[in-house]
Amino acid sequence: MAKYMVMNVERGIFMSMGALVVFSSDLRFQSDGKVKQFVENCSAAFTTLFLDGELVVAVKECEEEKKSYETIRMTAGAIARELCNRKVEKAVIQVEDLAKEFSNLDAGKSVAAFVEGWHLGSYKFITYKSEECAFKTELQVRGGADVKSSIEAGQIRAAAAAFSRDLMNEVPNVLNPETFPAMLTEEFAGTDVKVNVFHKEKLEELEMNGVLTVGRGSKYKPAFVELVYQTDGSKPLVALVGKGVTFDTGGISLKSGRDLSDMRMDMGGAAAVAGAVKLLSAIQAKVNVVALIPIVENSPDNTSVLPGEIIRYKNGKTVQVGNTDAEGRLILADGLIRASEWNAQYVVDIATLTGAIHNALGSKIAGVFGDEQLSFEMKQIGRENGDFIWPMPLVDEYEKYLKSDYADFCNISSKGEAGSITAGLFLRRFVPESCRWLHVDMAGVMESEETGYYPKSATGFGARLLADYVTYVSK
Ligand code: BES
Ligand code: MN
Ligand code: ZN
Repeated sequence: MAKYMVMNVERGIFMSMGALVVFSSDLRFQSDGKVKQFVENCSAAFTTLFLDGELVVAVKECEEEKKSYETIRMTAGAIARELCNRKVEKAVIQVEDLAKEFSNLDAGKSVAAFVEGWHLGSYKFITYKSEECAFKTELQVRGGADVKSSIEAGQIRAAAAAFSRDLMNEVPNVLNPETFPAMLTEEFAGTDVKVNVFHKEKLEELEMNGVLTVGRGSKYKPAFVELVYQTDGSKPLVALVGKGVTFDTGGISLKSGRDLSDMRMDMGGAAAVAGAVKLLSAIQAKVNVVALIPIVENSPDNTSVLPGEIIRYKNGKTVQVGNTDAEGRLILADGLIRASEWNAQYVVDIATLTGAIHNALGSKIAGVFGDEQLSFEMKQIGRENGDFIWPMPLVDEYEKYLKSDYADFCNISSKGEAGSITAGLFLRRFVPESCRWLHVDMAGVMESEETGYYPKSATGFGARLLADYVTYVSK
């Protein structure tokens, strides 16, 4: 039997060592049945062992129907995290091994998926951890003819999602309506992305009354940011509207303690659209896209919007605020009105909008509403790129739940059911007439446990989904 050793020995030994990532079908395991069995019997998707003087990560064979890009990303991410934790300097994988194991997939795209999963799996938000270092196990992909572009594609996708994660994880005293626009301006400085920032006076001029009203109770003044990336005027204009609530206390309709824990991530939609624009500009995509980001903090104060107040929107519609915690739709409405001023042909809004979508779909899959054909197409896009999403109905019969006795309609439903659908129906009333529209509710998927390429923190959901969607409709 070959010499092997499970890696539970002291970390230090492996610090300067490289690991080899191989699959259980690898020849080195064929010669020794016991080693192969050892690998196959382990409960995780892979195991690390010391074999003939080499540190080896042995990946178990997965079932044929599970051989997908997402499986590659998840496996790569888990391996990366494990090796990072063990302070292994570098890891090597052969393109041929990956291609052989996933012969049902495109070899270049498999490499990109591995690299993407690797970088997202080693992601850590350690800004405020004084004792943690940013150690990362370097990945070397060997072999393959034009592997370089695939590696780069994977890196770019990971960087975009990591950017969204960073924004979501950032704490609300650092990322707030006054600093967030500056952070976006800084991120896109020197790129082809133009950043327009609107402050209070401009918001008043543009009559962004949802943003102005919801932002009233915060010590941070509200803002509205446009990220403009237009490299091909012949392509349809796509507007991506992202909810940017930097903290959602609920406002005067204050949330209970339990609900409050991670409400700094209530700008997940904004992070998604910013990540998508970063991805598109990094690959120099020939598209025509504008991200529209209303930014507020929803706080209780003696200046806050009170339940019962009525907002008059620029398009003439009036909305009574039944509950100040349904603030997302109030600011997205301004974003949608702005999309019509841009004459966008496709509009997607994305938001951590309702707790109800978490109940309906759980934490692994977001909901998409609106244009049925496009919903289905977006579902296919997410299935491949890892941002999973499922079409939900906009039930006309529930429109009446939004009735208000005093205004055109109310921002909450009069019934305690179908909360995600009524939120979607609310938004639909502000959608520009001549566009094709989708609404993505990502409240359930904003955070993850530690699994695959997800650390226990923000997911960065939506950056890849929206970038690929924009590319798709721009074909
Ligand atoms: N930001 C929340 C939704 C949310 C909940 C996101 C949990 C992520 C995790 C949103 O602004 C909200 O408060 N929605 C209310 C709507 C209700 C007042 C109609 C909700 O879902 O309870
Ligand atoms: Mn809320
Ligand atoms: Zn919210």
